[in-house]
Formats: sequence, structure tokens, C-alpha cells
Amino acid sequence: MNNELVNVTITLNGEKRSADVEPRMLLVHFIRDVLNVTGSHIGCDTSQCGNCTILVNGRSTKSCTLLAVRADGSDVITVEGIGTTEKLHPIQQAFWDEHGLQCGYCTPGAMMASIDFLTQNPDPTDEEIREGLDGIICRCTGYEFIVNAVRSAAKMMNEDNAVKGEV
Ligand code: FES
Ligand code: FES
Repeated sequence: MNNELVNVTITLNGEKRSADVEPRMLLVHFIRDVLNVTGSHIGCDTSQCGNCTILVNGRSTKSCTLLAVRADGSDVITVEGIGTTEKLHPIQQAFWDEHGLQCGYCTPGAMMASIDFLTQNPDPTDEEIREGLDGIICRCTGYEFIVNAVRSAAKMMNEDNAVKGEV
């Protein structure tokens, strides 16, 4: 049996974090159980629910589908890395304003997937939002309020960019 540990270093929410782990450890377990950053949820064992979604090098990634060792050297952002209590990220503000959650279990993953989606498509139709988030399973909301939230976040982000002269 090979119990050899492998060192993994990632930049997690702007901070370099490092630990020795088993080569088979999944990224979601590395972040939650080793680094104790628990905002990303595990909602299935079949890579379907998307509740564990985070950003790896800026792209939306189901963190249960990636080995921690494969993320070595990556820039990782979880829900803890966006916004602050004083100033929410637009996606957080929009989920709050539009009641885009009920139990909240899927919400961190839904928000992180939405951030990448809106980066790729800053002015989506409702249909495109539904397609863009089809990797996220929500057991509570019926999705309508989530779509409203993402549409509202798109508007806020576009207005922010317009103020900054980026659009
Ligand atoms: Fe369900 Fe990752 S925990 S897709
Ligand atoms: Fe409960 Fe989405 S708000 S699973």
C-alpha cells in the first residue's frame, strides 16, 4: 500500500496555503477538511449537483471532480473569497435582493458558477442563464429566483463597469 503524501500548494482566496495530502484526495476535501474553509458544499457523490463549484484559475470547476494534486499551483477562489460583510459581491447582493435561495445549500456553488458564467456572457438572456447554470442542482427554489438573481447581478456588474468606464 502506498501511503506516500504529496505536497499541494494553492493560492486560496488570495492566501498561499500548503499541506501534505494523499494523492487520491479530492480538491473539495482538501479545501474543506485540510484547510478548514467550508463554504463549498458537497451535495452528491456523482459529480452532478454542482454545490461544490469554485473558481480554479478563474474558471468554474466542480471541486469534487479534481484531485487536489492536480490543483497544485492554482489560484482558487471559494465563496469566502468574494465580497465582504460590509460590501457584498454583486452576485451575493443579487441573490439576497432576489431571494435566490431557500435552504442555501446550493447557493455557494450557484454563485461561483454564476460569476464565471457572467464573465463569459455579461448580458445573458434568461434562456442562456438557465443553460449556463444547468450543472447546478437546487432542491428548493424551482430555479426561477436564481435566474432572477443572475439577471440582476448581470445588470449590477454592467452598471459597475460602465461607471468605471470599462464598457
Ligand atoms: Fe455534487 Fe461536487 S459535490 S458535483
Ligand atoms: Fe436549497 Fe438550493 S436553496 S438547494
